[in-house]
Amino acid sequence: MADAEPAAQEQLFASFQYEIYGRGLAGETPELPVSLGGLEERAREVLSVGAFGYVAGGAGSEQTMRANLRAFERWEIVPRMLRDVSSRDLSCSILGTAMAAPVLTAPVGVQSIVHPEGELAVARAAAAHGLAAILSTAASHSMEDVAAASGSAPRWYQLYWPKERALAESFVGRAAQAGYEAIVVTLDTWMLGWRPRDLQGAYLPFLQGEGVANYFSDPVFRAALERTPEEDPGPAIGHWAYQFSNPAITWADLAWLREQTKLPIVLKGILHVEDAQRAIDAGVDAVIVSNHGGRQVDGAIGALDALPGVREAVGKELPVLFDSGIRTGADVFKALALGADAVCLGRPFVWGLALGGQAGVEHVIRCLLAELDLTLALSGYTTIAEVNASALRRSD
Ligand code: FNR
Ligand code: LAC
Repeated sequence: MADAEPAAQEQLFASFQYEIYGRGLAGETPELPVSLGGLEERAREVLSVGAFGYVAGGAGSEQTMRANLRAFERWEIVPRMLRDVSSRDLSCSILGTAMAAPVLTAPVGVQSIVHPEGELAVARAAAAHGLAAILSTAASHSMEDVAAASGSAPRWYQLYWPKERALAESFVGRAAQAGYEAIVVTLDTWMLGWRPRDLQGAYLPFLQGEGVANYFSDPVFRAALERTPEEDPGPAIGHWAYQFSNPAITWADLAWLREQTKLPIVLKGILHVEDAQRAIDAGVDAVIVSNHGGRQVDGAIGALDALPGVREAVGKELPVLFDSGIRTGADVFKALALGADAVCLGRPFVWGLALGGQAGVEHVIRCLLAELDLTLALSGYTTIAEVNASALRRSD
């Protein structure tokens, strides 16, 4: 109806543009770039070469990083007309976690290299907009401190499955205790990929004691040390290096993890259709199609190109999330159309964090959600559930 009141969602997301134009009447323009691509160049100006390269860089020739972005350009939206899009709802619920929009913040480790508040600021920013945040095991702040910063907002915990089961059990137990609602097991990073930017600068932040807060605060981890990490950080970092890498894990180990927690288990890093089928056989609760932002296997398939096959392999029921290359609202729309239930936002929020702490992350979130909301409406849809492959065409 033409004279209906604008829906609450519309005021929340798309109306960000009117806020920006309104401030323009007072001579104000946005402090940060509204194009998420433009944020990277600004961040380069404020960060050290090492920190910038760590976030921006990927594995090898960075071919897969480029493939992630290219994969989105090969799909085009074919908008539909005259369908009353005045009232819209972007909210969804995944594994019982309610979200204002189908966007989570991806688990990104060592955020203190770009901003001292790191994961605390991200948790607050996500909470302010009703989004769920996924906290990395490699975080710079402990999962308990980040949980306190999130308040009652939804949060998931990403497990880097350590070498020793006792430590894995401790991480998972702490996460449940601290109110995380799902365990995201990252499968593609049993060791770090070959990353030329970091190698050239001989820069690995963990060795400087960044991104180890969950380890150093863990009773099982601490019990293995003769002196505390505070007294003697060297051996503690050595123990971190020992625990971090666990390339021996197989599908069979998932049964053990299943016994350790009642929380839903989400596998992050699924690309191959046969692995999607194995995930179903293993009885996990959801998968994330991801190539870790091209940071692990250079030459790997662009993540979006893997999404339709994984969705088909797992069927309609299992939640499928997606990350690696989300830069615009249109990208979110395309991933939803190709079978994702939600996406994880990665590097763009890290640039926002670098440039403005919590406010910078909120800026990035608001830009993305406004653009998603507008893309949805102007393409003829009012809910994310309606969006499917018929909304897209593959370009040549
Ligand atoms: C990551 N990513 C990541 N993933 C994970 O499971 N645990 C982690 O600790 C990290 N750490 C991390 C650090 C940095 C600096 C980046 C950029 C990424 C991967 C992340 O969750 C996600 O898969 C990618 O960021 C997606 O790619 P784009 O969209 O950011 O390019
Ligand atoms: C990375 C690790 C921490 O991608 O996941 O940098």
